[in-house]
Formats: sequence, C-alpha cells, structure tokens
Amino acid sequence: MNKSLDFPSSEFKQILDKATDIILGKYDLVDEQKGYNNYAQDEVARWFDEPLPFEGGDVIKLLDEVKQKVIDPATGNMGPNMYAYVMTGGNQISTIADLIATTINQNVAKWHLAPSMTEIEKRVVKWTTEMINYTNDAGGAMVSGGSEANLASLTVARNVFFRNNNVNKNGLFGMKPFLIYCSKETHNCIDKSVGLLGIGTNNMRRIETNRDFTINIAKLEEQIKSDVINGFTPFCIIGNAGSVNTGAIDDLDSLSEISKKYNVWFHVDGAYGGLASSLPSLKHQYKGIEKADSVALDFHKWLYQPFEIGCFLVKNWALLKETYFNKADYLDSDINVISPRLEINEHYFQLSRNAKAFKIWMSIKAYGFALFQQMMQKDIALSAYLSKVIKESDDFEIKSDSDLAIVCFRYIGTFTTEEEIININKKLIPALELDGSIFITGTKLNGEFVIRACLINHRKQKESIHHLLDTIRHVAKTLKGTLN
Ligand SMILES: Cc1ncc(COP(=O)(O)O)c(C=O)c1O
Repeated sequence: MNKSLDFPSSEFKQILDKATDIILGKYDLVDEQKGYNNYAQDEVARWFDEPLPFEGGDVIKLLDEVKQKVIDPATGNMGPNMYAYVMTGGNQISTIADLIATTINQNVAKWHLAPSMTEIEKRVVKWTTEMINYTNDAGGAMVSGGSEANLASLTVARNVFFRNNNVNKNGLFGMKPFLIYCSKETHNCIDKSVGLLGIGTNNMRRIETNRDFTINIAKLEEQIKSDVINGFTPFCIIGNAGSVNTGAIDDLDSLSEISKKYNVWFHVDGAYGGLASSLPSLKHQYKGIEKADSVALDFHKWLYQPFEIGCFLVKNWALLKETYFNKADYLDSDINVISPRLEINEHYFQLSRNAKAFKIWMSIKAYGFALFQQMMQKDIALSAYLSKVIKESDDFEIKSDSDLAIVCFRYIGTFTTEEEIININKKLIPALELDGSIFITGTKLNGEFVIRACLINHRKQKESIHHLLDTIRHVAKTLKGTLN
C-alpha cells in the first residue's frame, strides 16, 4: 500500500526536469509552429482509445506520450501563424505561476483558505481598475473568460432591476418584458446570458450599426422611445469596447448618457478590446467606459494569459454581495466580525475557485504593465500594416479596418465576378485548414462572408503578415481547378 500519491523527491525532480525539457523544446520551435495540424478526428480519437488504467505506468514514458499525442499536434495558438478566433499565445511567467498555484492548491473561496491569493486577487482587481481608468474601489472577481464576465455582470444588473421592481414579492406576473439594448455586432455570449437569466432573447433589441460597425446611437434612442411608449421597460444598455467581428468601439460616452437619461444599467463588454483603453493612443476612443455600471474583461485575450481568465468589475461593491451572498452554516466564520477579511464566495457565484489572479499578478510584476501595453500596440501596428498591404495589393480587398487588431478581407486573385469571389473565399477556409501553415477563419459582415484575421499574439512580427498573405495566395492557386 502506498503512503500517498507523492513520488520520492529525486524521482519527482526527474519528472519535472523531463517536463521542463519538453516545454523548452516547444519554445525552441515556437516561431515555426504551424497554425493547425490537420489530423483526422478518428485518428486523434484512436490515440486516446483505451480502457480505464487501473495500474499506473512509467511517468517519463507518459511524458513522451504526452509530447507525441498532445504537445506536438497542438493547434498553433502559441505561435505567430494563428489568426483564427481570438487566441493569444500565453506567456512564460504565467506558465510558472499556474504550476505554483496548482502545487499549493489554494481555494480562493474564503480568506482563511487562501490568505495571500485572496489579497492578490483583490490587488489584481484594483490594478485592473487602474488599467482601464475605472473607479478604484470597484468590486470584481476573476472568472473563466469573457462569456462568464458578461453573465456575472448581467446577473447583478438583473438582480438590481428585480429589487427596484419588487420582483421578489410580486413575481414577474403582469409585467411587460424588460428590454436589453445592444448593437447587432454584440457577441453571442450576451444572447446566451440573456437566455440563462430568464430575460429571453426576444427581449434583446439588436440595434443597427454605422458603417464602422459601431452602434447607431440615433436608432438606439428611437427604439427606446418607441418601446417606452408601448409600455416596455428598458433595463440595460450594452456597449462594445471592441466588437468580436471587427473590433468596433461603440460611442460609450453617448451610451452612458442615454443609460442615465432612461435610468438603465450600463454594461460594457470589453472582453476583446477593453484593455486597449489603457493605451494613450486609444484612450480617447473609450471615453465613457469609466461611467459603466459594470465591465467585462478577458485576460486570456489582451493580457496574453493562458486560458482561462477573465474579470468582471461592478462599480458598486455592495451589489456583488447583494446579488451573490447566500448564508450557509458550514461557511460562516465568526472571525469576520473582528477581521475585515474578504470572502470572495460571498461576492460571486462560485464556491471553490482556483487562484486565477496569481498569474496576472506574477506576470505583471515580472514584465511590467508597460511591456504588455507595448505588445498590444505592436498587435495594433501589425494589423494596420496588414490592412495597408491588403489595400496596396491587387489580389485582396479590405472589408473592415479596425483601430484594434482584427482585419476582415477577401481574396480576389484574378477573379472578375462576385460569384467567383464568394466561391473562392468560402473554399479557402477549409483548404487553409487542410494546409495548416496558417490557421484562419471567417465571419459575416452585413451578411457577406469575409476572412477574419485576429492578431492578438505577442510573437507575431512583420514577416508573419507576408507569410499569411502568401499562404492564402498559394492555397488559392491549388484550388483553381476545383472552382465552378
Ligand atoms: C467581444 C467579446 N465578448 C465576449 C467574448 C467571449 O469571451 P470568452 O471566449 O473568453 O468566453 C469574446 C470572445 O472572443 C469577445 O470577443
């Protein structure tokens, strides 16, 4: 019978050394990493097709297996050839932070379960408010990502609305639907949240956008006025601080004014672009974010953190406890009476929580926030460069420019008809996935299919941009015979 699961220290060191060597090997090749490794689904399933192992095996051999089946075939998020969705590549300090955090296995539910980690999370929330120039005493917590940050914020908004309308006593009976307003470019996690919160997606007003994909303020106000006349109650306005398709930054200042005028909650989805508000060159475009009642942010995007970590901020700390606190005898600690300990479980839905803030804390202290800002600025400059190269070329056309780091475009080649261009662009995406040199996906803008390049990755350089376009040209040529 083993005494515990632990290895003798010398053996554990060998295992750690082996893991370290494998990780260093991954970094050695990071710049050459393909965007995607095109293995068939059934082949990948076969690698892992085995019955429950009752007996343990040699861990050094296991690490070789991990390298072969998990690390080598991994999708190229780390490297410069990833343009699909919004993937960053993580950073080395956060890798170490996660290792330390999982080693000491703190549960950031209650202060006495994780004293340092709780204070670190509080500090990271404070630093975040400094980054985006938000109220310094705002409440907030680390969550899994942008989707959860939006859900967590909207839950608070809904509960405040319920409280103000005495829903606990009256229920929702006899009440006309309460409405949420956002642009047509808003991320689908808002639809999911609105569904989960019982508000109902039919009660979302998705407002038309301007040519630059920002919300049309005049149309928004028109819609609110008409809804009020028809007896509906506006409840929340959501602004995009960087929309998912094009990185559009809504006129947050006007949205905050309208929210004030109609006495509704103002939420900002800054999951994609919120942190870029810390850049002196862009600050003015985010005017109004500081007036939001809540903000959703995503650190596994523009803080180059490994998954998962997002953060939500709520201007009024007290509303977190009002929304999320639920008394339980087994969680009470009388010590709170004499000690102002922060019990995060009383301010958020989760009870057991890992120490997500630790990797933010360590990486910011190691690199300094200014270096993160430099990397964000580099991503933005590279996106502008990609737009410029596309505009100057005669075989691509630009479809959306962004002040942030997303570029939407189409390949034109030597095609002359719209039908041919639509056809080649649709075929390009799966063909590029098959090729794998770069990984990129598409989206629709005003109903039109476009290729969408996201450039949030501190390992991209100017050469990466030329490699992206040359790869598309090359793969397009291989498709020529297949077009009809
Ligand atoms: C604007 C916006 N909101 C929300 C999300 C969802 O974030 P996550 O994938 O971290 O849940 C994204 C993701 O790309 C986004 O761009």
